[in-house]
Amino acid sequence: MRIIEAHDYEHMSELAANYLIDKIHTNPSMVLGLATGGTPQGTYKHLIQDHQRNHTTYKEITTYNLDEYVGFSADNPNSYHAFMYEKLFGKIDIPSANIHLPNGTAIDLNDECKTYEESIKESGGIDVQLLGMGSNGHIGFNEPGTSFEATTQIVHLAQSTREANARFFHDINEVPHEAITMGIATIMKSKEILLLVAGEAKNEAMRKLVEGEVDESFPASVLNRHSHVTIIADKKALSGVTVR
Ligand code: F6R
Repeated sequence: MRIIEAHDYEHMSELAANYLIDKIHTNPSMVLGLATGGTPQGTYKHLIQDHQRNHTTYKEITTYNLDEYVGFSADNPNSYHAFMYEKLFGKIDIPSANIHLPNGTAIDLNDECKTYEESIKESGGIDVQLLGMGSNGHIGFNEPGTSFEATTQIVHLAQSTREANARFFHDINEVPHEAITMGIATIMKSKEILLLVAGEAKNEAMRKLVEGEVDESFPASVLNRHSHVTIIADKKALSGVTVR
């Protein structure tokens, strides 16, 4: 794992956006895996700015998001569909046919998981997967204890994850209990992974990721087994962490 230290969140976002823009220029028809949450929002802002100023095009780009809440349709303002259109897709030139998120309102959710997994495979696989990390080490919505073998699946959200995500809702009771997420095995099949980590609240998770054992009790630790991972983390997340 290559670790790049950023001064702060803004710097991390700028470095991450430049990293992705470089990849897009090299391969304008790449398959990009995307994440939601607070961590990538600054990166998305920079991608939009670059699209407006430098006209980087997304016409041939295909995207797959990591996850979606079960029961939330695309027009629910708290859905990850809505998040992605508001924070990125609505402001770049990506054709909607190229955008993929799991359907949280599919009648047969297990079938939706299989279809999503198949669709990623048929696209040729994810070239670069952007990830954030939960403070309990989750990636996607794969909570501690998830099998490293899991593909796209329905998961129960940890209470700590619901509490962390309550900031995007009026009330914690509105935060769903379940989500569809790419599994750890799905994420690990990506040719390349870019993990972003910022803030003191992620410092302990960062330490476990870098210094700890690879174990299903800390999902992100699996990234130590991937041959092409870049981490861009800010000073607060990296404070006191011994980089091997
Ligand atoms: C988001 C996702 C999650 C988040 C993680 C960190 O699609 O899959 O793994 O990356 O919960 O969230 P933030 O960035 O809000 O701290």
